[in-house]
Amino acid sequence: MLAIIGGSGLTQLSSLDIRERKVIRTPYGEPSGVLSFGRLDMRDVLFLPRHGYGHNIPPHRVNYRANIWALKECGARCIVSIASVGGIRADLNPGDIVIPHQIMDYTWGRKSTYFDGTDMPVKHVDFTHPYDEELRRQLVFSAAAAGISVWDGGVYAATQGPRLETAAEIDRLERDGAEVVGMTGMPEAVLARELELAYAAINPVANHAAGRGKSAESVRFEHLGEILQEVMGRVRIIVEGVIGVIGKE
Ligand code: HPA
Repeated sequence: MLAIIGGSGLTQLSSLDIRERKVIRTPYGEPSGVLSFGRLDMRDVLFLPRHGYGHNIPPHRVNYRANIWALKECGARCIVSIASVGGIRADLNPGDIVIPHQIMDYTWGRKSTYFDGTDMPVKHVDFTHPYDEELRRQLVFSAAAAGISVWDGGVYAATQGPRLETAAEIDRLERDGAEVVGMTGMPEAVLARELELAYAAINPVANHAAGRGKSAESVRFEHLGEILQEVMGRVRIIVEGVIGVIGKE
């Protein structure tokens, strides 16, 4: 079954016919909210809003371990994560959609493994390719089939937040090779890998990153609501297309 983790601007999937909502407890605490069990296109889908239904859980406080554990426990085999980003690369603009292929992790202090030597033995998972390539391809294919243009590939830098970055920090991320920046991609991706769930992301660009383009002087989110509302319409279409493919397998 496919699970969707919704980010800012997508706390619900309106096209989803919700059949049930369940409170799930895990050995790692509580997930961001109740899990919604829905049907779309005659297929079962799970939905969880990363920041809670009231959008009140900041990126560094999200219980990533509980979220991924709960989704697996409820039958998820694949996760599509939706997480908005700032665009670092000069040709990225608000409203663009990136399907990233690589990650760099600048977060700290987050509980980022299930294998921490207490309740599970130490294990070093392979993370050479952090996203599931087949699921990534399905997202790109679904977008193309719907006539929606996306960037196929991108290097995602995960920062700690909740503050935005300084211009110098964005310069450094760019020198490191990052193309987009967000606050929630890690440890979510690696936890999914640890639990052997196929994981891929859709990153709508919400703003130019600090010091870039329209954010040369400051990052202003004044048009954020409109941008996210419009871009999430396209994100939904991509997700719905993938649900159709995955459910058939
Ligand atoms: N930086 C970090 N995370 C973000 C940004 C950004 O500029 N925009 C949306 N999420």
